[in-house]
Amino acid sequence: MFTSPDASDKPDYPVLARQLASILEGERNLITNAAQFSAFIYSSISNLNWAGFYFCVDASKPTAEFAHDLLLGPFQGKVACTRIPFGRGVCGTAAAERRTVLVADVHAFPGHIACDSASESEIVIPLIKDGELYGVFDIDSPRLERFSAEDQSGLENLLSIFAAVTDFR
Ligand code: SME
Repeated sequence: MFTSPDASDKPDYPVLARQLASILEGERNLITNAAQFSAFIYSSISNLNWAGFYFCVDASKPTAEFAHDLLLGPFQGKVACTRIPFGRGVCGTAAAERRTVLVADVHAFPGHIACDSASESEIVIPLIKDGELYGVFDIDSPRLERFSAEDQSGLENLLSIFAAVTDFR
């Protein structure tokens, strides 16, 4: 697992927010900014084994309840599941319920999708701009209970900065 020398278990989120704004300055392309955001998170926060996006697309098997799937976007870490239906796993739950899902122990989460067997805890944040859901950002850790309430609010703020400076259409 790669961790930068500056990566921290308790990141200074206001500092990360300033660094992120500077990294993304001058560019609004979705794939470019999503790739940069994934790399930034993965190298700035310690004890992670996966960090990346899933974006909303038309469902391959639409249901009355859900017309969308989540399709893998830019990420850091091992090869992952390509497509996740809304409502399935941690990512599909965060998308369907439009809320951050913080999982202290993935083995205790019903329906968790194990892409990397090293994952022990996980946080998934919905990617929402102007009231519209565009996908989720998923972060996995090989440590149980890796993510705190402080991580949740710090990461939600970083994702909102990404959303604000990125064009989705
Ligand atoms: N664990 C996720 C699947 C995505 S991978 O972790 C990259 C889930 O249950 O939705």
